Amino acid sequence: MEAKTSKVSIVGAGAVGATLAYAGLMRGFARTVALYDINKAKVEAEALDLAQGIQFMPEATVLGSDDVGVVEGSDVVVVTAGAKQQPGQSRMDLAGATISLMDKVLPPLMRVAPNAIYILVTNPVDVVTLAAIKKSGMDPARMFGSGTALDTSRLRHQVAQACEVAVGNVHAYIAGEHGDSEVALWSSATVGGQPLAQWRDRTGKIVMTPERREQIHHDVMRSAYTIIEGKGATNYAIGAAGARIVEAVLGDQRRIMPVSTLIDYPGVGEVCMSLPAVIGRNGIEHHADTPMDESERAALEASARSIRETAERFGA
Ligand code: LAC
Repeated sequence: MEAKTSKVSIVGAGAVGATLAYAGLMRGFARTVALYDINKAKVEAEALDLAQGIQFMPEATVLGSDDVGVVEGSDVVVVTAGAKQQPGQSRMDLAGATISLMDKVLPPLMRVAPNAIYILVTNPVDVVTLAAIKKSGMDPARMFGSGTALDTSRLRHQVAQACEVAVGNVHAYIAGEHGDSEVALWSSATVGGQPLAQWRDRTGKIVMTPERREQIHHDVMRSAYTIIEGKGATNYAIGAAGARIVEAVLGDQRRIMPVSTLIDYPGVGEVCMSLPAVIGRNGIEHHADTPMDESERAALEASARSIRETAERFGA
């Protein structure tokens, strides 16, 4: 399915949904972009504001409605609707509210867009994605969460700044929970093809010392809290990440991104968590077998347990 004839619907016209729509339209990720939200005035205004900029974007039709019918026939449905993380609040604190929201939102969406690929962005995205898969009975390859695609972008940005190189030359992943227990896969990270831990600055000094890696991991994990403290929500980076995931699907790009997918984790049980996966027109094609050292595997198992615990607590 080429972007030229495809339709993407975004559920939730809040800061994240509207920014994702804007990011996608600027990149021409679909021919039709529909915004759906129960707040009629807001969704119509967001759609009108986006539509009035089309002259400066690749040609597209923008729709906005509080009627779920606007989602009809979508190739991709992105769900961003949900409770907002308040200053100091963890994403997992939102689980109860958003899981019951999924009970309401998903059935009508599946009726009007049964053949779509579903991308969950709503937090806590791992628990919400698990609940959505279980309640909808969807093929888990066709329903997944944005996961740590955003955290990975944050990690690569910080490493690129530390190493004074372009972000595109940093290959490193955050895996596990999109949240407090996320895991930096340092052992497989590279800068310009060189193992990250061996990267030297122009004076020959090793840049990514264990202390520096520790600090960057902490800063990445705390990024959302920091931004929410300052501006009340995050939207640009998550909007761009979500748009890129949609592009990977519609363009059948086989792009490898860490997204939240259903995994039967040995010794833990079924969870949704992020591992680098190949994303194409059928959703999750397969997982990359990214190598990990002992400490990363232990941290990943702890992350799986944390997600599983919250999922069980809220009946996901
Ligand atoms: C963040 C939100 C999207 O990490 O969870 O910015």
